[in-house]
Amino acid sequence: MAQMWRGVVHEYAEFIPEHIKEAVVTLGEGGIPLIRSSTVQRRLADFGVHAEVYIKFEGRNPTGSFKDRGMTGAISAEKAKGTKVVICASTGNTSASAAAYAAAAGMTSAVLVPDGKIATGKLAQAIAHGANLLQVDGNFDDCLIIARQLAKDFPVVGLVNSVNPNRLQTQKTASFEVVDEMGDAPWIHAVPVGNAANISAYWMGYKEYADAENAANRPQMWGFQAEGAAPMVNGKRVENPKTIATAIQIGNPASWDLAVSAAAESGGLFDTVTDEEILGAHRILSNESGVFVEPASAAPLAGILKEAESGKLSAALSELSERRAGTAQIVFTSTGHGLKDPNWALYDINLKPKEGSEPIKVQNSVDAVAGALGL
Ligand code: F0G
Repeated sequence: MAQMWRGVVHEYAEFIPEHIKEAVVTLGEGGIPLIRSSTVQRRLADFGVHAEVYIKFEGRNPTGSFKDRGMTGAISAEKAKGTKVVICASTGNTSASAAAYAAAAGMTSAVLVPDGKIATGKLAQAIAHGANLLQVDGNFDDCLIIARQLAKDFPVVGLVNSVNPNRLQTQKTASFEVVDEMGDAPWIHAVPVGNAANISAYWMGYKEYADAENAANRPQMWGFQAEGAAPMVNGKRVENPKTIATAIQIGNPASWDLAVSAAAESGGLFDTVTDEEILGAHRILSNESGVFVEPASAAPLAGILKEAESGKLSAALSELSERRAGTAQIVFTSTGHGLKDPNWALYDINLKPKEGSEPIKVQNSVDAVAGALGL
């Protein structure tokens, strides 16, 4: 009989704490195959780097971002406790995911987002799923302070940001899927870093899978932040984070310490990428790989290309080749779908219409269409 994917809690039940499994709320998240990118491999080869490159395209999740993996854990645990109202702060994707899973669980959701700083698609998702949407006159870090305090002052409200440990417990399944597909951990796994939960969850997952002897190795974790929002790279909070990648426009990551451990224990690194580099990688992914992402999700590719150009990537791979056999393997996670923030397909970095993005108007005839196509 055909076996259907049952969502990450059921699929990886032996690695999930019992209290999350009592009242599972799932939209079938996870189960996402890697995409091999020969075009990115060719670009790396231009810099003398020879590696297999795979994209973990988390935009394929039910609400279009990796947040669904963690949200099934958080909402399931709240459901088991009988929570009626959940709250979160968000740059957009967490709010979309929380609103969807809360709707599926029959709960009310309240989401706090920085006014004017989240992508339209994400706003529409929260509204579509019936969230109480509050646009706060402040940035994400301000929203998180308020959400945490509300959950403390009003115990009937469940906080479903990634500071809720149940989020990481199911978000870590992304690593399991990578290993299940590749047969081992890749040499390097690169992710964008905002509030720093995702890099922490991946590392937790890789460690647990290796401890369970499902993987012989653990990867280096490489985290990339936008230059204007790079507290982890600079080692200090950023008061007014600024980047076109609004999803990672965060100045004081909640999972700072866990993320530092992930990079340090794995022998990985944090680095910055500019908005120009992010948009360049965004174009490479959509034009050459057929993968449409939101800007934050292009940051890891931008970072890999930057480290390839600087020579850091070759140096890391040659060091790793002393203990890893075969061809080097690099995975990067593209965290969210391009349809959430589609303007970046149409506009350039200065928000001017991108060349070739204006649709060509033609008359209603075969000849006119053939002429316009130069046939
Ligand atoms: N990529 C996307 C598309 C995101 O939405 C986020 C975070 C990240 C990367 C960074 O992941 O925070 O675990 O380091 N978005 C959160 C939100 C903050 O509210 O949706 P992180």
